[in-house]
Amino acid sequence: MCGIVGYVGEENAVPYLINGLRKLEYRGYDSSGIVVGKMVNNKPVFELYKKAGKLTQLVGVLPKELAGSWGIGHTRWATHGMVTDTNAHPFLSNDGKIAVVHNGIIENFQTLRSALEKEGVKFASETDSEVIPNLVARFYKGDLLAAVRDALCNVIGTYALAITCVDDPNKIVVAKRGGPLVIGLADGAYYVASDVSAIVGNTSRVIYLEDGDIVEVTPAGLKFPKIENNDYAKRIEEITISAQETEKCGYDTYMEKEINEQPESIERAFAGRFDMEKATAKLSGFEDEIFQRTNKITAICAGSSYYSSLFGASLIEKYARIPSYAEISSEFAFKNPIVGRDDVYIAVSQSGETADTRDAMTEIHEKGGKVFGICNVPSSTIARESDGGAFMHAGVEIAVATTKAFSNTIMIYYLLALKFARQRGMSKEDGAKFIQEILHQPALIRETLKNSKKMKALAKKYSKAKDFLFLGRGLMHPIAMEGALKLKEISYIHAEAFASGEIKHGPIALVNEKTPSVFLVPDDYTRDMVISNIKEIKARKGPVIAIGVEGDKDLESIVDEFVAVPKVENKDFYALPMLVLCQLFAFYMAKELGCDVDQPRNLAKSVTTR
Ligand code: G6P
Repeated sequence: MCGIVGYVGEENAVPYLINGLRKLEYRGYDSSGIVVGKMVNNKPVFELYKKAGKLTQLVGVLPKELAGSWGIGHTRWATHGMVTDTNAHPFLSNDGKIAVVHNGIIENFQTLRSALEKEGVKFASETDSEVIPNLVARFYKGDLLAAVRDALCNVIGTYALAITCVDDPNKIVVAKRGGPLVIGLADGAYYVASDVSAIVGNTSRVIYLEDGDIVEVTPAGLKFPKIENNDYAKRIEEITISAQETEKCGYDTYMEKEINEQPESIERAFAGRFDMEKATAKLSGFEDEIFQRTNKITAICAGSSYYSSLFGASLIEKYARIPSYAEISSEFAFKNPIVGRDDVYIAVSQSGETADTRDAMTEIHEKGGKVFGICNVPSSTIARESDGGAFMHAGVEIAVATTKAFSNTIMIYYLLALKFARQRGMSKEDGAKFIQEILHQPALIRETLKNSKKMKALAKKYSKAKDFLFLGRGLMHPIAMEGALKLKEISYIHAEAFASGEIKHGPIALVNEKTPSVFLVPDDYTRDMVISNIKEIKARKGPVIAIGVEGDKDLESIVDEFVAVPKVENKDFYALPMLVLCQLFAFYMAKELGCDVDQPRNLAKSVTTR
């Protein structure tokens, strides 16, 4: 994680660096810093500012008149070393000439640090990153690009780097191995960033760097030693997102905006993806003939993507009759997994950068398997390295706690279940009905969002609770898991989810009058069993909040709180409306408790560490 930015050009670098970091704060917000290069009496000098805490802390210490024609900046998610001013980036070499911002982990930093210390280098921070400027300084003989290349030959680990030298004004050298990095090209100005959201609005022309790229960036252009004759024009792409997508558009927080965007965002997930005549889904990235013969589909994923995939795996198995699983990507390699010839893997990742999921993908590829992707960020590593797949089309998601990307993943799973089911015996008539249910989802979510005030009132009423249980059966179990995750992520209230049939095997010991349980109760084959579980909780004085279906008076009469979603024909389509209520509950709880909804403590949106 961590976000990095850089600018060289004719204007003042500072506004871009700060605005860019603001857009990248989702990648980490423990501390931030910038170094700006400028000419003083015809001599280039650096001005460095760095501060622990959110970006506003840094902005607070910047002199109003701060200006310079080039600079680099960083927003940090701490890995090596505490959250302090000293451990914040950028780092300078001992001689003060080389400045570096780094995203990634230098695995052999101890060895490098000891070697440099023996040569007399003094380190100020506890970070792995501080070795880089000192290593570059050691190799610098007037050519920054060459020095960076030589220094990186000694480095083991992952990095996205922006490096500048005070003796080489208006120049930044960037390098990528592991972490994402993009260069924006405008007239007389070049922008560097961890992702395009920092660049959008400044230019629409970008180059996504690939692993192994080392590039020199100056106002005169780019120097791409890896590309023959420096002909990098072919690598220039157009950014497709608009600047508006990265703004709050009248909402106080990104999370609230993103929750409310869901009716439109899920529509984008299925728009143009139906073949009405054949009553199936069109997903060209899933056309591979392996899907006709496979007998095992495994999603590899982390966090919320794991929960959406647990849902998706059950759905595919139920409708398409293909044994399907979801596995936590950070655990995947430990069992030395068997990758069968016809097994299918799907890497599911909003960011498309999660290191654990990338590692699992590498493991499968090395064993000769195919990995398809479900990603939100089209330029992401997983999207580019997969053997096919589908984009979520959720649009830019900025709040750290995912909402609309989760819903769009669920939508993609509905489409996959339909497609595979139609290939394996689902009738045309049932396919057509399934499509109607999907098409109906946006309206259903719009209707459900009208419960916003009710969820706010409930959050207020239960805001003193220290623990929550989230319970559901079947397809509602993963939705309960996501509901619990949302609550703990942004309100810091302890919340645990269980398959409600499991509570009698242990979790019921947690129940008392102070521990509310949130039950997800669709009017399907699980309802009566879930109601029995509710009674078990009530018998032990546990408060129960039930998210049920409108008109379910019997349920309403036995619980403390009842919130309803509209009725649907196919009972497997309650997941999104019920989830939306969980999202609203977590959101209002966090607001009630005064938490930073968009940037919860200790978290980051894109997790590129292991
Ligand atoms: C982080 C985020 C989670 C996300 C998880 C997986 O932990 O805070 O919201 O679910 O990473 O991210 P991915 O981008 O791979 O879906």
